[in-house]
Amino acid sequence: MDFNFKTDPIWKPHDIVGIDIGTRSVKAVQLKKKGKLTKLVGYGRLEVPENYIIEGIISEPEKLAGLIKDFFKKITWGKITATRVNLSISESKVFTRILTLPHTDDKSRSDAVIWEATQIVPMAMDDLYIDWQYIGPNNEDPKSDDIIFAAAPKSIVNSYIQLAGLLGLEIISIETNLGAVARAMVPNKAIGETVLVVDLGAKSTSMAIFDQYIRVTGSTLVGGENLTKKIAEVLKLEINEAERLKLKKDDKDLVKVREAIDVELTDMTREIDRMIHYYYEKINKENIISKILLCGGTASLPGLSEYFTEKLDITTVVGNPWSNISVYPIKPVPREEAPIYTNAIGLALLGFENE
Ligand SMILES: Nc1ncnc2c1ncn2[C@@H]1O[C@H](COP(=O)(O)OP(=O)(O)OP(=O)(O)O)[C@@H](O)[C@H]1O
Ligand SMILES: [Mg+2]
Repeated sequence: MDFNFKTDPIWKPHDIVGIDIGTRSVKAVQLKKKGKLTKLVGYGRLEVPENYIIEGIISEPEKLAGLIKDFFKKITWGKITATRVNLSISESKVFTRILTLPHTDDKSRSDAVIWEATQIVPMAMDDLYIDWQYIGPNNEDPKSDDIIFAAAPKSIVNSYIQLAGLLGLEIISIETNLGAVARAMVPNKAIGETVLVVDLGAKSTSMAIFDQYIRVTGSTLVGGENLTKKIAEVLKLEINEAERLKLKKDDKDLVKVREAIDVELTDMTREIDRMIHYYYEKINKENIISKILLCGGTASLPGLSEYFTEKLDITTVVGNPWSNISVYPIKPVPREEAPIYTNAIGLALLGFENE
């Protein structure tokens, strides 16, 4: 018999694509492990027409599936070959919380979690898929347990299941965007450090304080589109012109743009600040947040990291989710586009997590 060890196996355990279904663009990333290296198989971004995704629900599944199929065929960098997929839902559309409950055995814990959830979740339980995971005894009160709890609207999850079916993809997992971006930007060696991650998208901005787990989350419906609309309104420009101006790095324009979007930036800063205070007061008094990592398209807004550094007095940088991924021989992703793929990279990396 002639063995050809160079031939790829028929089924590969890590043949998974991460797809970030953003309101205005879908991002896809497929990775593979080669020894210690994480190599890029393919990646790309597809613009999504307005109203294909409304409030997180895919409202035009057939049309979106058609666009994604074409996009996979002519993806610019590498190829997407996986038949299994990891997906995410924006934090602004899910309900996540660390619950602290009196210690019980595993059997009673499930009932206690459900009871507690019905008290705090502002939606009918029948309309939600819920999931939870035991973390361990509470830091301050060892007689209580900490449990990570998440609830996602069935309307969103079911629309994802329909899309995946139309694409012939098997869903392996659905998590929140913040879980994915934390995985992509905080390498294992940094665990133990407390960082604040912020995903700045088109329609919303979501944020989390993360040590070994996501401890606290927040979101605001201020995103890149609000900024563009505000620039257009204040500077009396067409939307396209306002979008171009927003991306420009010219010092003169920067001042004009900054003044136009002052209210929105203040709003984002207030939301982040509120979360930081909550973390220090209610969750952990000792762990100091060492840095803020920005990702998502709006993270590339000129001067934004310097703005947060100054206003929040915590070093803020745009995360680079590509730093641990070997992209050779594919040309490197331009620095400004790099943070847009953070969520999709985190989803793709989930495939390697249990190695
Ligand atoms: N270089 C840049 N500077 C500033 N903003 C940018 C830049 N590049 C893209 N954006 C903005 O990023 C936004 C799109 O980001 P992203 O792809 O992360 O959003 P999304 O995932 O589709 O939306 P959401 O997460 O809200 O559902 C747009 O508003 C766009 O104007
Ligand atoms: Mg997004």
